[in-house]
Amino acid sequence: MLYVTGDTHGEFERFEPANFPEQQEMGREDYVLICGDFGGVWDGSRRDARKLDRLEQLPFTTLFVSGNHENFDRLARYPVEEWQGGLVQRLRPHVLHLMRGQVFTLEGRTFFTMGGARSHDVEDGILDPRADDFEEQYRLLRSMGGRFRVAHRTWWRQELPSEAEYQEARRNLERVGHRVDYIVTHCAPNQVLDGLAPGESYTHDRLTDFLEEVRQATTFRHWFFGHYHEDRLLDGGFVLLWEQIVRLL
Ligand SMILES: [Fe+2]
Repeated sequence: MLYVTGDTHGEFERFEPANFPEQQEMGREDYVLICGDFGGVWDGSRRDARKLDRLEQLPFTTLFVSGNHENFDRLARYPVEEWQGGLVQRLRPHVLHLMRGQVFTLEGRTFFTMGGARSHDVEDGILDPRADDFEEQYRLLRSMGGRFRVAHRTWWRQELPSEAEYQEARRNLERVGHRVDYIVTHCAPNQVLDGLAPGESYTHDRLTDFLEEVRQATTFRHWFFGHYHEDRLLDGGFVLLWEQIVRLL
């Protein structure tokens, strides 16, 4: 069995048995896959650890691609290993980060994964906590109700893929002949983005450009993504997920 859901942002109540009774039928070879903004690796507090331990206790295996709301500095400390044909980081024995640009085979189906997204609620800037005027700027922006983030605390450059990750993605898609069963990302390719909310603030960026390239060059059955906080079925096999948990396999 494989279920897919959208952004969790470190809140995993939806997976508790009362909210997700389907897990009674599930084992460790069954999966729940989160389309980014997992948020389970955040401030390194005991609360983080408790949440990951709770996920580990649930009967299924939790998988996620990265979003933009992950603590990438902390995430990077977990060792990388190979699993089901692609690279993962194992946060707990049954809680795995599916890394960018990988192709996994689960239950005989192939999945291309490419996490990441650009944060769009940062119009007032990214503050550097090492800057001399950091405290002053922080207080000022707070008092103005500014939309800003602090580097390495609430924003990370690694929210967008690196050049090496794009190359890895291209290599792996080439290897499988640009044909997979499913694609799992956090943000959407340009064409889908444009149709999602015309006139809204979602703009194209390097990653949505890349995903557009993938959309045009790759054959797939369904493409799951999150980030835009809506549950919606779209044309062309695209599925935008937020709080719903959808059974795929
Ligand atoms: Fe997001």
